[in-house]
Amino acid sequence: MSGPHPFDDPLRYERAVPPAAVVIFGANGDLTKRKLLPSLYRLAYERRLPAGFAIVGVSRTAMSDEQFREKMRESVAKFLEDSPFDAELWNEFARGLFYVAGDIADAGLYNSIAVKLKELDEARQTGGNALFYLSIQPSQYATTVAGLGAAGLNHGPRPECWRRFIIEKPFGHDEASAKELSRDLRAVLDENQIYRIDHYLGKETVQNILAFRFGNGIFEPLWNRRYVAQVQITAAESIGVEGRGAYYQEAGALRDMIQNHLLQVMSTIAMEPPAVYEPTAVRDERAKLLRSILAVKPEQVATHAVKGQYGPSRIGGAAVAGFRQEPGVDPQAQTDTYAAVTMFVENWRWAGVPFYIRTGKRLPKRVTDIAIQFNQAPLSIFEGESGQTWPNLLVVRIQPEEGISLRFFSKLPGSGMKLRPVTMDFNYGTSFGTRTPTAYETLLLDALEGDATLYTRQDMVEASWAAVQPILNVWGETKFDFPNYAAGSWGPAASEEMLARRGHVWRVP
Ligand code: BG6
Repeated sequence: MSGPHPFDDPLRYERAVPPAAVVIFGANGDLTKRKLLPSLYRLAYERRLPAGFAIVGVSRTAMSDEQFREKMRESVAKFLEDSPFDAELWNEFARGLFYVAGDIADAGLYNSIAVKLKELDEARQTGGNALFYLSIQPSQYATTVAGLGAAGLNHGPRPECWRRFIIEKPFGHDEASAKELSRDLRAVLDENQIYRIDHYLGKETVQNILAFRFGNGIFEPLWNRRYVAQVQITAAESIGVEGRGAYYQEAGALRDMIQNHLLQVMSTIAMEPPAVYEPTAVRDERAKLLRSILAVKPEQVATHAVKGQYGPSRIGGAAVAGFRQEPGVDPQAQTDTYAAVTMFVENWRWAGVPFYIRTGKRLPKRVTDIAIQFNQAPLSIFEGESGQTWPNLLVVRIQPEEGISLRFFSKLPGSGMKLRPVTMDFNYGTSFGTRTPTAYETLLLDALEGDATLYTRQDMVEASWAAVQPILNVWGETKFDFPNYAAGSWGPAASEEMLARRGHVWRVP
Protein backbone atom coordinates (compact mmCIF):
# COMPACT_ATOMS: atom_id res chain seq x y z
CA MET A 1 0.00 0.00 0.00
CA SER A 2 1.39 3.42 -0.85
CA GLY A 3 0.99 6.66 1.12
CA PRO A 4 -0.18 7.04 4.70
CA HIS A 5 -2.71 4.44 5.70
CA PRO A 6 -6.10 5.92 6.71
CA PHE A 7 -5.79 3.98 9.94
CA ASP A 8 -3.09 6.44 10.99
CA ASP A 9 -5.33 9.42 10.37
CA PRO A 10 -5.66 11.37 13.64
CA LEU A 11 -9.19 12.47 12.67
CA ARG A 12 -10.47 8.91 12.72
CA TYR A 13 -12.40 7.59 15.62
CA GLU A 14 -13.36 4.01 16.20
CA ARG A 15 -16.34 2.05 17.28
CA ALA A 16 -16.13 -1.66 17.93
CA VAL A 17 -17.69 -3.85 15.25
CA PRO A 18 -18.75 -7.33 16.39
CA PRO A 19 -17.99 -10.41 14.30
CA ALA A 20 -20.68 -11.22 11.74
CA ALA A 21 -21.60 -12.67 8.36
CA VAL A 22 -23.27 -10.40 5.81
CA VAL A 23 -25.68 -12.29 3.57
CA ILE A 24 -26.56 -10.40 0.39
CA PHE A 25 -29.66 -11.44 -1.52
CA GLY A 26 -29.38 -10.11 -5.08
CA ALA A 27 -25.62 -10.71 -5.18
CA ASN A 28 -25.64 -10.52 -8.95
CA GLY A 29 -27.45 -7.20 -9.03
CA ASP A 30 -26.39 -3.65 -9.71
CA LEU A 31 -26.45 -2.38 -6.13
CA THR A 32 -24.17 -5.20 -4.94
CA LYS A 33 -21.66 -4.45 -7.66
CA ARG A 34 -21.77 -0.68 -7.53
CA LYS A 35 -22.24 0.01 -3.83
CA LEU A 36 -22.30 -2.90 -1.40
CA LEU A 37 -19.11 -4.76 -2.26
CA PRO A 38 -17.04 -1.61 -2.92
CA SER A 39 -18.22 -0.25 0.46
CA LEU A 40 -17.41 -3.46 2.34
CA TYR A 41 -14.02 -3.63 0.66
CA ARG A 42 -13.34 -0.01 1.58
CA LEU A 43 -14.23 -0.79 5.21
CA ALA A 44 -11.76 -3.68 5.07
CA TYR A 45 -9.16 -1.31 3.65
CA GLU A 46 -9.71 1.00 6.58
CA ARG A 47 -9.45 -1.97 8.94
CA ARG A 48 -12.93 -1.35 10.22
CA LEU A 49 -14.16 -4.92 9.77
CA PRO A 50 -13.74 -7.42 12.58
CA ALA A 51 -11.47 -10.45 12.33
CA GLY A 52 -14.50 -12.77 12.31
CA PHE A 53 -16.16 -11.61 9.14
CA ALA A 54 -17.62 -13.19 6.00
CA ILE A 55 -19.87 -12.27 3.11
CA VAL A 56 -22.30 -14.70 1.54
CA GLY A 57 -23.69 -13.74 -1.85
CA VAL A 58 -27.06 -15.24 -2.77
CA SER A 59 -28.72 -15.23 -6.18
CA ARG A 60 -30.23 -17.54 -8.78
CA THR A 61 -27.24 -17.79 -11.13
CA ALA A 62 -25.15 -20.92 -10.60
CA MET A 63 -21.62 -19.90 -9.60
CA SER A 64 -18.78 -21.26 -7.50
CA ASP A 65 -17.22 -19.26 -4.65
CA GLU A 66 -14.24 -18.65 -6.94
CA GLN A 67 -16.38 -17.34 -9.79
CA PHE A 68 -18.24 -15.06 -7.40
CA ARG A 69 -14.94 -13.72 -6.02
CA GLU A 70 -13.68 -13.00 -9.52
CA LYS A 71 -16.90 -11.20 -10.46
CA MET A 72 -16.76 -9.10 -7.31
CA ARG A 73 -13.09 -8.31 -7.85
CA GLU A 74 -13.94 -6.79 -11.24
CA SER A 75 -16.82 -4.77 -9.76
CA VAL A 76 -14.83 -3.48 -6.81
CA ALA A 77 -11.90 -2.45 -9.00
CA LYS A 78 -14.34 -0.67 -11.33
CA PHE A 79 -16.67 1.02 -8.86
CA LEU A 80 -14.38 1.88 -5.99
CA GLU A 81 -14.80 5.65 -5.81
CA ASP A 82 -11.77 7.72 -4.85
CA SER A 83 -9.98 4.78 -3.20
CA PRO A 84 -7.07 2.64 -4.27
CA PHE A 85 -7.59 -1.00 -5.24
CA ASP A 86 -5.03 -3.06 -3.37
CA ALA A 87 -4.55 -6.53 -4.88
CA GLU A 88 -2.95 -7.96 -1.75
CA LEU A 89 -5.73 -6.74 0.51
CA TRP A 90 -8.29 -7.98 -1.99
CA ASN A 91 -6.92 -11.53 -1.78
CA GLU A 92 -7.27 -11.47 1.98
CA PHE A 93 -10.79 -9.96 1.75
CA ALA A 94 -11.85 -12.45 -0.96
CA ARG A 95 -11.06 -15.41 1.30
CA GLY A 96 -14.10 -14.33 3.29
CA LEU A 97 -16.41 -14.27 0.24
CA PHE A 98 -18.80 -17.15 -0.35
CA TYR A 99 -21.69 -17.86 -2.65
CA VAL A 100 -24.95 -19.77 -2.42
CA ALA A 101 -27.15 -20.23 -5.51
CA GLY A 102 -30.87 -20.76 -5.33
CA ASP A 103 -34.39 -19.60 -5.97
CA ILE A 104 -35.97 -17.31 -3.41
CA ALA A 105 -39.21 -19.29 -3.66
CA ASP A 106 -37.45 -22.57 -2.83
CA ALA A 107 -37.26 -23.63 0.82
CA GLY A 108 -34.04 -25.51 0.01
CA LEU A 109 -32.23 -22.19 -0.49
CA TYR A 110 -32.76 -21.16 3.12
CA ASN A 111 -31.52 -24.50 4.40
CA SER A 112 -28.35 -24.09 2.29
CA ILE A 113 -27.87 -20.61 3.80
CA ALA A 114 -28.36 -22.03 7.29
CA VAL A 115 -25.72 -24.70 6.64
CA LYS A 116 -23.32 -22.08 5.26
CA LEU A 117 -23.81 -19.78 8.26
CA LYS A 118 -23.15 -22.64 10.66
CA GLU A 119 -19.98 -23.49 8.77
CA LEU A 120 -18.82 -19.87 8.88
CA ASP A 121 -19.61 -19.57 12.56
CA GLU A 122 -17.01 -22.28 13.13
CA ALA A 123 -14.54 -21.67 10.30
CA ARG A 124 -14.43 -17.87 10.41
CA GLN A 125 -15.71 -17.16 13.93
CA THR A 126 -18.59 -14.98 12.80
CA GLY A 127 -20.05 -15.29 16.29
CA GLY A 128 -23.37 -16.63 14.99
CA ASN A 129 -24.34 -13.08 14.02
CA ALA A 130 -25.79 -12.30 10.61
CA LEU A 131 -26.81 -9.18 8.73
CA PHE A 132 -29.11 -10.01 5.82
CA TYR A 133 -29.21 -7.45 3.01
CA LEU A 134 -32.27 -7.69 0.77
CA SER A 135 -31.11 -6.13 -2.48
CA ILE A 136 -33.94 -7.69 -4.47
CA GLN A 137 -37.31 -6.72 -5.96
CA PRO A 138 -39.60 -5.42 -3.19
CA SER A 139 -42.24 -7.90 -4.41
CA GLN A 140 -39.85 -10.65 -3.18
CA TYR A 141 -39.34 -9.28 0.34
CA ALA A 142 -42.24 -11.13 1.93
CA THR A 143 -41.29 -14.52 0.40
CA THR A 144 -37.65 -14.09 1.37
CA VAL A 145 -38.34 -13.08 4.95
CA ALA A 146 -40.89 -15.89 5.32
CA GLY A 147 -38.31 -18.37 3.93
CA LEU A 148 -35.68 -17.13 6.36
CA GLY A 149 -38.14 -17.40 9.21
CA ALA A 150 -39.20 -20.94 8.29
CA ALA A 151 -35.53 -22.01 8.30
CA GLY A 152 -35.13 -20.45 11.76
CA LEU A 153 -32.73 -17.84 10.44
CA ASN A 154 -34.56 -14.94 12.06
CA HIS A 155 -32.76 -15.75 15.28
CA GLY A 156 -29.21 -16.83 15.99
CA PRO A 157 -28.00 -20.22 17.23
CA ARG A 158 -27.27 -18.84 20.75
CA PRO A 159 -29.11 -16.25 22.82
CA GLU A 160 -26.35 -13.63 22.48
CA CYS A 161 -26.34 -13.83 18.65
CA TRP A 162 -28.20 -11.25 16.61
CA ARG A 163 -29.96 -11.27 13.24
CA ARG A 164 -30.63 -8.00 11.40
CA PHE A 165 -32.28 -7.32 8.07
CA ILE A 166 -31.59 -4.38 5.77
CA ILE A 167 -34.43 -3.58 3.39
CA GLU A 168 -34.03 -1.27 0.40
CA LYS A 169 -36.64 1.19 -0.77
CA PRO A 170 -39.27 1.44 -2.18
CA PHE A 171 -41.17 0.61 1.00
CA GLY A 172 -44.45 0.14 -0.78
CA HIS A 173 -45.93 1.98 -3.74
CA ASP A 174 -48.35 4.01 -1.66
CA GLU A 175 -49.53 4.33 1.92
CA ALA A 176 -51.64 1.15 1.88
CA SER A 177 -48.96 -1.09 0.34
CA ALA A 178 -46.34 0.29 2.78
CA LYS A 179 -48.52 -0.92 5.65
CA GLU A 180 -49.02 -4.26 3.99
CA LEU A 181 -45.26 -4.71 3.52
CA SER A 182 -44.69 -3.89 7.16
CA ARG A 183 -47.26 -6.49 8.21
CA ASP A 184 -45.47 -9.14 6.11
CA LEU A 185 -42.10 -8.27 7.64
CA ARG A 186 -43.44 -8.08 11.17
CA ALA A 187 -45.01 -11.53 10.85
CA VAL A 188 -41.44 -12.88 11.06
CA LEU A 189 -39.24 -10.11 12.44
CA ASP A 190 -39.26 -7.74 15.39
CA GLU A 191 -39.28 -4.06 14.48
CA ASN A 192 -35.80 -3.65 15.99
CA GLN A 193 -34.40 -6.26 13.60
CA ILE A 194 -35.54 -4.29 10.53
CA TYR A 195 -33.15 -1.69 9.11
CA ARG A 196 -34.93 0.31 6.40
CA ILE A 197 -32.18 2.00 4.48
CA ASP A 198 -32.46 5.51 3.09
CA HIS A 199 -28.98 6.27 1.84
CA TYR A 200 -29.53 10.04 2.06
CA LEU A 201 -29.51 9.76 5.85
CA GLY A 202 -26.07 8.18 5.64
CA LYS A 203 -24.59 11.03 3.63
CA GLU A 204 -21.97 12.81 5.68
CA THR A 205 -23.39 16.23 4.80
CA VAL A 206 -26.92 15.26 5.85
CA GLN A 207 -25.59 14.02 9.20
CA ASN A 208 -23.67 17.25 9.53
CA ILE A 209 -26.94 19.20 9.53
CA LEU A 210 -27.57 17.77 13.00
CA ALA A 211 -24.06 18.75 14.12
CA PHE A 212 -24.52 22.22 12.66
CA ARG A 213 -27.89 22.76 14.27
CA PHE A 214 -27.47 21.07 17.63
CA GLY A 215 -23.72 21.39 18.20
CA ASN A 216 -23.70 25.18 17.91
CA GLY A 217 -25.45 27.82 19.92
CA ILE A 218 -25.85 30.55 17.33
CA PHE A 219 -28.00 29.07 14.58
CA GLU A 220 -30.80 27.32 16.44
CA PRO A 221 -32.31 30.54 17.88
CA LEU A 222 -32.83 31.71 14.26
CA TRP A 223 -34.16 28.39 13.05
CA ASN A 224 -37.86 29.18 13.03
CA ARG A 225 -40.72 31.10 11.44
CA ARG A 226 -39.69 34.40 13.03
CA TYR A 227 -36.44 34.52 11.05
CA VAL A 228 -36.78 32.06 8.19
CA ALA A 229 -38.77 33.18 5.16
CA GLN A 230 -38.58 29.98 3.10
CA VAL A 231 -36.58 26.80 2.62
CA GLN A 232 -35.65 25.31 -0.76
CA ILE A 233 -34.49 21.73 -1.13
CA THR A 234 -33.10 20.84 -4.56
CA ALA A 235 -31.92 17.44 -5.78
CA ALA A 236 -31.07 17.82 -9.42
CA GLU A 237 -29.63 15.06 -11.57
CA SER A 238 -28.19 15.51 -15.04
CA ILE A 239 -28.52 11.82 -15.89
CA GLY A 240 -31.66 10.29 -17.37
CA VAL A 241 -33.11 6.98 -16.25
CA GLU A 242 -29.98 5.00 -17.17
CA GLY A 243 -31.57 1.73 -18.23
CA ARG A 244 -33.99 1.78 -15.26
CA GLY A 245 -36.88 2.90 -17.48
CA ALA A 246 -39.16 0.02 -16.55
CA TYR A 247 -38.83 0.64 -12.77
CA TYR A 248 -38.83 4.39 -13.09
CA GLN A 249 -41.91 4.47 -15.30
CA GLU A 250 -43.94 3.02 -12.42
CA ALA A 251 -42.22 5.06 -9.71
CA GLY A 252 -41.67 8.62 -10.96
CA ALA A 253 -39.72 11.39 -9.24
CA LEU A 254 -42.16 12.05 -6.39
CA ARG A 255 -42.01 8.41 -5.25
CA ASP A 256 -38.38 7.81 -6.19
CA MET A 257 -36.85 10.82 -4.45
CA ILE A 258 -39.27 13.04 -2.53
CA GLN A 259 -41.35 10.51 -0.57
CA ASN A 260 -38.18 9.08 0.96
CA HIS A 261 -34.83 10.89 0.54
CA LEU A 262 -35.97 14.49 0.39
CA LEU A 263 -38.60 14.27 3.11
CA GLN A 264 -35.89 12.74 5.30
CA VAL A 265 -33.65 15.69 4.46
CA MET A 266 -36.53 18.01 5.30
CA SER A 267 -37.04 16.23 8.62
CA THR A 268 -33.33 16.74 9.40
CA ILE A 269 -33.61 20.44 8.69
CA ALA A 270 -36.87 20.98 10.51
CA MET A 271 -37.03 18.49 13.42
CA GLU A 272 -36.89 19.54 17.06
CA PRO A 273 -33.67 18.90 18.98
CA PRO A 274 -33.65 15.38 20.43
CA ALA A 275 -32.86 15.17 24.16
CA VAL A 276 -29.95 12.82 23.44
CA TYR A 277 -28.21 11.54 20.31
CA GLU A 278 -29.54 8.04 20.46
CA PRO A 279 -31.58 6.03 17.90
CA THR A 280 -35.02 6.24 19.52
CA ALA A 281 -34.75 9.90 20.49
CA VAL A 282 -33.55 11.00 17.03
CA ARG A 283 -36.07 8.90 15.15
CA ASP A 284 -38.92 10.02 17.40
CA GLU A 285 -38.16 13.64 16.50
CA ARG A 286 -37.93 12.89 12.79
CA ALA A 287 -41.19 10.97 12.91
CA LYS A 288 -42.90 13.80 14.79
CA LEU A 289 -41.81 16.28 12.15
CA LEU A 290 -42.96 14.09 9.28
CA ARG A 291 -46.33 13.71 10.96
CA SER A 292 -46.58 17.51 11.23
CA ILE A 293 -46.36 18.01 7.48
CA LEU A 294 -49.67 19.39 6.36
CA ALA A 295 -51.28 17.07 3.82
CA VAL A 296 -52.09 18.99 0.64
CA LYS A 297 -55.83 19.06 -0.01
CA PRO A 298 -56.91 17.61 -3.37
CA GLU A 299 -58.07 21.05 -4.54
CA GLN A 300 -54.63 22.51 -3.67
CA VAL A 301 -52.60 20.00 -5.67
CA ALA A 302 -52.65 22.16 -8.81
CA THR A 303 -51.06 25.09 -6.96
CA HIS A 304 -48.82 23.16 -4.51
CA ALA A 305 -47.30 20.53 -6.78
CA VAL A 306 -45.80 20.44 -10.26
CA LYS A 307 -45.36 17.35 -12.37
CA GLY A 308 -42.89 17.36 -15.25
CA GLN A 309 -41.46 15.05 -17.85
CA TYR A 310 -38.48 15.71 -20.09
CA GLY A 311 -38.65 15.70 -23.84
CA PRO A 312 -35.88 15.29 -26.39
CA SER A 313 -33.22 17.93 -26.70
CA ARG A 314 -29.60 18.58 -27.58
CA ILE A 315 -27.11 18.84 -24.75
CA GLY A 316 -23.56 19.97 -25.52
CA GLY A 317 -24.18 19.37 -29.22
CA ALA A 318 -25.41 15.77 -28.72
CA ALA A 319 -28.98 14.61 -29.24
CA VAL A 320 -30.63 13.41 -26.02
CA ALA A 321 -33.75 11.23 -26.08
CA GLY A 322 -36.91 12.26 -24.29
CA PHE A 323 -38.19 10.06 -21.46
CA ARG A 324 -40.82 8.46 -23.69
CA GLN A 325 -38.11 7.43 -26.13
CA GLU A 326 -36.03 5.68 -23.44
CA PRO A 327 -35.80 1.85 -23.68
CA GLY A 328 -38.55 0.05 -21.82
CA VAL A 329 -40.71 3.17 -21.51
CA ASP A 330 -44.28 3.43 -22.78
CA PRO A 331 -44.45 6.15 -25.49
CA GLN A 332 -47.56 7.51 -23.72
CA ALA A 333 -46.07 7.36 -20.20
CA GLN A 334 -47.49 9.85 -17.71
CA THR A 335 -44.46 9.43 -15.41
CA ASP A 336 -43.02 12.41 -13.56
CA THR A 337 -39.29 12.74 -14.24
CA TYR A 338 -39.54 16.08 -12.42
CA ALA A 339 -41.53 16.91 -9.32
CA ALA A 340 -41.74 20.05 -7.25
CA VAL A 341 -43.89 20.45 -4.15
CA THR A 342 -44.69 23.11 -1.58
CA MET A 343 -44.96 21.71 1.92
CA PHE A 344 -45.96 23.35 5.17
CA VAL A 345 -45.18 22.11 8.65
CA GLU A 346 -47.97 22.58 11.11
CA ASN A 347 -46.15 23.29 14.34
CA TRP A 348 -45.15 26.32 16.39
CA ARG A 349 -41.69 26.51 14.91
CA TRP A 350 -42.62 26.43 11.23
CA ALA A 351 -46.26 27.40 10.73
CA GLY A 352 -46.56 29.41 7.51
CA VAL A 353 -43.00 28.85 6.24
CA PRO A 354 -43.00 27.24 2.79
CA PHE A 355 -40.64 24.32 2.21
CA TYR A 356 -40.15 24.02 -1.54
CA ILE A 357 -38.78 20.68 -2.68
CA ARG A 358 -37.81 19.87 -6.26
CA THR A 359 -36.08 17.00 -7.99
CA GLY A 360 -35.66 15.83 -11.53
CA LYS A 361 -33.75 13.84 -14.08
CA ARG A 362 -32.02 15.50 -17.03
CA LEU A 363 -31.65 18.86 -15.34
CA PRO A 364 -28.64 21.05 -16.19
CA LYS A 365 -26.34 19.61 -13.53
CA ARG A 366 -26.03 17.23 -10.60
CA VAL A 367 -26.46 19.16 -7.41
CA THR A 368 -28.21 18.59 -4.10
CA ASP A 369 -28.50 21.43 -1.65
CA ILE A 370 -30.70 23.13 0.88
CA ALA A 371 -31.12 26.90 0.90
CA ILE A 372 -32.52 28.55 4.00
CA GLN A 373 -33.57 32.06 3.19
CA PHE A 374 -33.91 34.47 6.09
CA ASN A 375 -36.19 37.45 6.37
CA GLN A 376 -34.73 40.63 5.03
CA ALA A 377 -33.60 43.43 7.32
CA PRO A 378 -36.62 45.47 8.41
CA LEU A 379 -35.21 48.67 6.98
CA SER A 380 -32.68 49.51 4.31
CA ILE A 381 -30.49 52.44 5.35
CA PHE A 382 -27.65 52.00 2.86
CA GLU A 383 -27.47 53.17 -0.67
CA GLY A 384 -27.51 50.52 -3.35
CA GLU A 385 -28.50 47.69 -1.02
CA SER A 386 -31.46 45.64 -1.91
CA GLY A 387 -32.24 43.04 0.72
CA GLN A 388 -35.23 42.21 -1.44
CA THR A 389 -32.94 40.75 -4.09
CA TRP A 390 -30.21 39.36 -1.83
CA PRO A 391 -31.64 38.22 1.48
CA ASN A 392 -29.35 36.37 3.88
CA LEU A 393 -29.05 32.83 2.70
CA LEU A 394 -27.60 29.77 4.36
CA VAL A 395 -26.81 27.03 1.86
CA VAL A 396 -26.05 23.48 2.94
CA ARG A 397 -24.39 21.77 0.00
CA ILE A 398 -25.05 18.04 0.18
CA GLN A 399 -23.27 17.14 -3.07
CA PRO A 400 -21.12 17.28 -5.07
CA GLU A 401 -19.14 20.11 -3.42
CA GLU A 402 -19.92 19.40 0.20
CA GLY A 403 -19.99 22.40 2.47
CA ILE A 404 -21.99 25.22 4.01
CA SER A 405 -22.06 28.86 2.99
CA LEU A 406 -23.67 31.97 4.39
CA ARG A 407 -24.50 34.97 2.26
CA PHE A 408 -24.58 38.43 3.80
CA PHE A 409 -23.94 42.03 2.86
CA SER A 410 -20.51 43.60 3.08
CA LYS A 411 -19.28 47.12 2.48
CA LEU A 412 -17.63 47.65 -0.88
CA PRO A 413 -14.09 48.98 -0.40
CA GLY A 414 -13.81 52.70 -1.01
CA SER A 415 -15.41 55.86 0.20
CA GLY A 416 -19.12 55.90 0.86
CA MET A 417 -21.31 53.07 2.09
CA LYS A 418 -22.06 50.84 -0.83
CA LEU A 419 -22.94 47.23 -0.08
CA ARG A 420 -22.51 44.02 -1.94
CA PRO A 421 -23.52 40.44 -1.11
CA VAL A 422 -20.60 38.13 -0.22
CA THR A 423 -20.38 34.57 1.05
CA MET A 424 -18.61 32.94 3.95
CA ASP A 425 -17.71 29.40 3.03
CA PHE A 426 -16.99 26.13 4.78
CA ASN A 427 -15.77 23.38 2.52
CA TYR A 428 -15.45 19.80 3.73
CA GLY A 429 -12.52 18.88 1.51
CA THR A 430 -10.31 21.83 2.39
CA SER A 431 -11.26 21.95 6.08
CA PHE A 432 -10.64 18.32 6.90
CA GLY A 433 -8.43 17.28 3.99
CA THR A 434 -9.74 13.79 4.38
CA ARG A 435 -12.02 11.59 2.35
CA THR A 436 -15.62 11.41 3.55
CA PRO A 437 -17.05 7.89 3.76
CA THR A 438 -19.83 7.04 1.33
CA ALA A 439 -23.37 6.66 2.67
CA TYR A 440 -23.29 2.88 2.21
CA GLU A 441 -20.04 2.53 4.19
CA THR A 442 -21.56 4.48 7.07
CA LEU A 443 -24.86 2.65 7.02
CA LEU A 444 -23.41 -0.84 6.71
CA LEU A 445 -21.13 -0.19 9.64
CA ASP A 446 -24.03 1.21 11.66
CA ALA A 447 -26.13 -1.89 11.01
CA LEU A 448 -23.25 -4.16 12.01
CA GLU A 449 -22.98 -2.19 15.22
CA GLY A 450 -26.73 -2.28 15.79
CA ASP A 451 -27.08 1.49 15.53
CA ALA A 452 -30.35 2.35 13.77
CA THR A 453 -30.14 6.14 14.23
CA LEU A 454 -29.70 6.75 10.50
CA TYR A 455 -32.24 4.17 9.40
CA THR A 456 -35.85 5.00 8.77
CA ARG A 457 -38.64 3.50 10.84
CA GLN A 458 -42.09 2.27 9.80
CA ASP A 459 -43.92 5.23 11.37
CA MET A 460 -41.63 7.57 9.42
CA VAL A 461 -42.29 5.68 6.20
CA GLU A 462 -46.06 5.90 6.74
CA ALA A 463 -45.95 9.59 7.65
CA SER A 464 -44.02 10.46 4.51
CA TRP A 465 -46.41 8.48 2.35
CA ALA A 466 -49.27 10.38 3.98
CA ALA A 467 -47.57 13.66 3.03
CA VAL A 468 -47.40 12.85 -0.68
CA GLN A 469 -50.42 10.58 -1.08
CA PRO A 470 -52.96 13.34 -1.92
CA ILE A 471 -50.66 14.55 -4.70
CA LEU A 472 -50.22 11.04 -6.07
CA ASN A 473 -53.98 10.54 -6.00
CA VAL A 474 -54.73 13.67 -8.03
CA TRP A 475 -51.85 13.05 -10.44
CA GLY A 476 -53.09 9.51 -10.96
CA GLU A 477 -56.44 10.85 -12.18
CA THR A 478 -55.10 13.69 -14.35
CA LYS A 479 -53.81 13.46 -17.90
CA PHE A 480 -50.77 15.68 -18.40
CA ASP A 481 -49.61 17.18 -21.63
CA PHE A 482 -46.09 15.73 -21.68
CA PRO A 483 -43.26 16.37 -22.34
CA ASN A 484 -43.25 19.78 -20.64
CA TYR A 485 -39.54 20.49 -20.24
CA ALA A 486 -36.56 19.97 -22.49
CA ALA A 487 -33.80 17.65 -21.33
CA GLY A 488 -31.02 19.83 -19.93
CA SER A 489 -33.33 22.62 -18.69
CA TRP A 490 -34.42 23.50 -15.13
CA GLY A 491 -37.84 21.89 -15.44
CA PRO A 492 -41.33 23.04 -16.40
CA ALA A 493 -42.34 26.71 -16.28
CA ALA A 494 -45.13 25.79 -13.85
CA SER A 495 -42.48 25.19 -11.20
CA GLU A 496 -41.39 28.86 -11.27
CA GLU A 497 -45.06 29.84 -11.21
CA MET A 498 -45.62 27.76 -8.08
CA LEU A 499 -43.08 29.90 -6.18
CA ALA A 500 -44.08 33.15 -7.85
CA ARG A 501 -47.49 32.84 -6.16
CA ARG A 502 -45.73 33.71 -2.89
CA GLY A 503 -43.34 36.19 -4.47
CA HIS A 504 -40.49 33.65 -4.39
CA VAL A 505 -38.11 32.35 -7.04
CA TRP A 506 -36.06 29.19 -7.29
CA ARG A 507 -32.45 29.86 -6.54
CA VAL A 508 -30.03 28.76 -9.25
CA PRO A 509 -27.82 26.22 -7.44
C1 BG6 B 1 -32.02 6.55 -5.71
C2 BG6 B 1 -33.00 6.75 -6.82
O1 BG6 B 1 -32.68 6.16 -4.54
O2 BG6 B 1 -31.29 7.74 -5.49
C3 BG6 B 1 -32.27 7.18 -8.09
O3 BG6 B 1 -33.73 5.56 -7.05
C4 BG6 B 1 -31.41 8.39 -7.82
O4 BG6 B 1 -33.21 7.45 -9.14
C5 BG6 B 1 -30.53 8.16 -6.61
O5 BG6 B 1 -30.60 8.62 -8.98
C6 BG6 B 1 -29.80 9.44 -6.23
O6 BG6 B 1 -28.85 9.16 -5.25
P1 BG6 B 1 -27.56 10.07 -5.11
O7 BG6 B 1 -26.88 9.53 -3.89
O8 BG6 B 1 -26.76 9.88 -6.36
O9 BG6 B 1 -28.03 11.48 -4.98
